[in-house]
Amino acid sequence: MENTLSPLLEEYQLGDLKLKNRVVMASLTRGRATNPELIPTPIMAEYYAQRASAGLILSEGTWVNPQSIGFINVPGIYTQEQVEGWKTVTKAVHDKGGVIFSQLGHIGAGAHPDLQKGELPVGPSPVNIQSQSFTPEGFKDTVTPREMTAAEIHSTIQDYKKAAQNAKEAGFDGVEVHAIAGMLIPQFLSIATNRRTDEYGGSLENRARIIFEILDAIIEVWDSSRVSIKFSPVMISHVGIVQPDEETIPLFKYILKKLDSYNLAFVHIVGPAEDLSGTPVDQLQEDYFAHFRNNYKGRIMANLGFSKESGNKILSEGNADFVSFGEPFIANPDLVERFKHNVPLSQSDRDTYYTGEENGYITYPKALITE
Ligand SMILES: Cc1cc2nc3c(=O)[nH]c(=O)nc-3n(C[C@H](O)[C@H](O)[C@H](O)COP(=O)(O)O)c2cc1C
Repeated sequence: MENTLSPLLEEYQLGDLKLKNRVVMASLTRGRATNPELIPTPIMAEYYAQRASAGLILSEGTWVNPQSIGFINVPGIYTQEQVEGWKTVTKAVHDKGGVIFSQLGHIGAGAHPDLQKGELPVGPSPVNIQSQSFTPEGFKDTVTPREMTAAEIHSTIQDYKKAAQNAKEAGFDGVEVHAIAGMLIPQFLSIATNRRTDEYGGSLENRARIIFEILDAIIEVWDSSRVSIKFSPVMISHVGIVQPDEETIPLFKYILKKLDSYNLAFVHIVGPAEDLSGTPVDQLQEDYFAHFRNNYKGRIMANLGFSKESGNKILSEGNADFVSFGEPFIANPDLVERFKHNVPLSQSDRDTYYTGEENGYITYPKALITE
């Protein structure tokens, strides 16, 4: 039976973009750009087109320059060949009536010399983030990166701008800046990994500076209503020493207040994956998304562990404007239709998350729904 009392399934006018619903496909790195040039492959176009009934698709994280590469077979958006590859993806999604943003990322110190032609990865400071990098030989421990010069920071910001320009040329409808733990931006935000003494380190305002310089560069290319950013303020597992610290809460208050004036499409917030008791951010545990709602005037996209029920609930309560779903979209290309018709969700096979070509990628069937 069709379920009509569902805020998730309501249309949404996002600036001049009409979204069919408020179910967003969150970025999912799937490792199917299996060529040395990291060009999107034909199966990627099919994969995204299969999921075009989402109100909005956020592409997998894509690299803004060669230095940003930190995971095998992940596509870039810094060469013309990559742009041509992405054109087939955006066309396939648009042909199915979908809307798709490109997620722009740089992994910074999370890279590995094996992915950097033997060179050290770069980071805000020479501090090993104590995480792991997915290299051609499997997962390897991260190393101590080389400190970026201020000039390198400025040229990296220009690379984000060029990538945003490329995303426009490739036919994307907007961009999302990838700033969740594990990536370069949170390495600047974290006290543990940013020891700089110039204008990009020290005070929380200085540590956050790179965010605004990246956004300022991107909105020279895109109207701000097509630009978004994804944060994971309380991510704890699998991210090495880039952890919430005693300045995380004032830092995010500062960032969100400053973002008020940007008129972004949305700020995308990843929720807590574990109990925050005893951590420096334990006061966020209760009513997590309300804290962000109360500190930011613009649109909020909520993420992590949502179901149809909890997604509808947070929208009804008003603590988010959209809900994004990551893993549920892997085995349920028709997630929206399943929500609509109360069809149980299929489980995804973790063994094919990052490898397997077509298998576990474009092979998940849609549910048989009779209208
Ligand atoms: C296989 C896989 C790949 C992911 N790749 C990305 C990525 O490229 N960029 C990103 O921001 N988040 C990435 N994520 C995180 C998801 O976007 C999402 O934040 C997370 O899965 C929590 O949402 P969920 O509980 O609905 O899955 C990935 C998650 C998974 C499972």
